[in-house]
Amino acid sequence: MQTRKLGKDLTVSAIGLGCMGMSHAYGGQDEAASIKTLHRAVDIGVNFFDTAEVYGPFVNEELVGKALKPYRDQVVIATKFGFRIDTARAQQSAMTGLDSRPEHVREVAEASLKRLGVEVIGLFYQHRVDPDVPIEETVGAMADLVKEGKVKALGLSEASADIVRRAHAVHPISALQSEYSLWTRDPEGDVLDTCRELGIGFVPFSPLGRGFLTGKITSTADFGAQDFRANLPRFEADNMKANLALVKLVEDMASEKGITAAQLALAWVLAKGDFIVPIPGARKIPNLEQNAGAADVVLTMEEVAKLDDMLAPEKIAGARYAAQALAWTPKR
Ligand SMILES: NC(=O)c1ccc[n+]([C@@H]2O[C@H](COP(=O)([O-])OP(=O)(O)OC[C@H]3O[C@@H](n4cnc5c(N)ncnc54)[C@H](OP(=O)(O)O)[C@@H]3O)[C@@H](O)[C@H]2O)c1
Repeated sequence: MQTRKLGKDLTVSAIGLGCMGMSHAYGGQDEAASIKTLHRAVDIGVNFFDTAEVYGPFVNEELVGKALKPYRDQVVIATKFGFRIDTARAQQSAMTGLDSRPEHVREVAEASLKRLGVEVIGLFYQHRVDPDVPIEETVGAMADLVKEGKVKALGLSEASADIVRRAHAVHPISALQSEYSLWTRDPEGDVLDTCRELGIGFVPFSPLGRGFLTGKITSTADFGAQDFRANLPRFEADNMKANLALVKLVEDMASEKGITAAQLALAWVLAKGDFIVPIPGARKIPNLEQNAGAADVVLTMEEVAKLDDMLAPEKIAGARYAAQALAWTPKR
């Protein structure tokens, strides 16, 4: 697969693999199947893997570390810190607040190194900006980990343009990871412009709209009991119905091009800049392989503009997160 650069120091496959769903958020986990998917990803040239302390919590890092052990030197594993975690609670509800105090940054890094079974974390992100800790203090602590050789590169997630700038002044930031897809345009404008200007890579998470933009989710009945999408405003029955009409347009355009809706959605984010590296989540090998194929899809400027309009923000029904999680994202 073609590669792209994130900041100065990381060269990664143009499409990475989001590993969250293998242990978290969407239910129906199957560790053995996920390990096969992770190995297949390496086989087809994916070398950029995304996890976080909070996925599981903890078990996703262990799974990714275990599966990628034979390939440690060939891959970039990104992980994230920054939540207060109550281990007595399960999954989403285990996140009880934010914590980016320098001492906590270090604690999580040490624990993540152990769970991943690596000597260096390839990319270490702050998962959410902590309003109680100046970003300079957090990035200072992250930079100390780079100096000590425990972390190779630094990232932020869901940070505003101003925070990115302040962080980058303390230590080079290699990547900003935020939700970005055909139906979530929040980073367009100041955030993407700042990344482009400062030479910071941009990593869109949920680039398939948590699966919705593939056209394969058509009803809330598609969600199992552990699937947190059932609680997201965009997936409520009335909103989903309105959003499905838009996805049908994406499917129609994809089929005219002889590709899938998932590939069209990924080709669209890739077309937004060569500093952009999406991390679609896929537990199933056919989904992984299909998504990797999007790296070869070329869109014309007219096609990109058509998609921009087709799913313009004012046409999307429902917020991307429920209230609590939305409060942890940048204010606009
Ligand atoms: N920084 C953050 O706060 C944050 C938040 C959310 C996610 N993330 C990261 O971003 C990654 C990706 O996001 P995501 O998993 O939320 O959403 P996503 O990538 O938009 O969608 C993943 C969903 O789409 C399905 N899928 C994937 N490829 C498909 C295809 N070709 N056809 C049909 N269905 C397909 C997957 O199914 P299967 O899994 O069953 O194959 C899964 O249910 C996560 O894994 C995580 O690493 C970060």
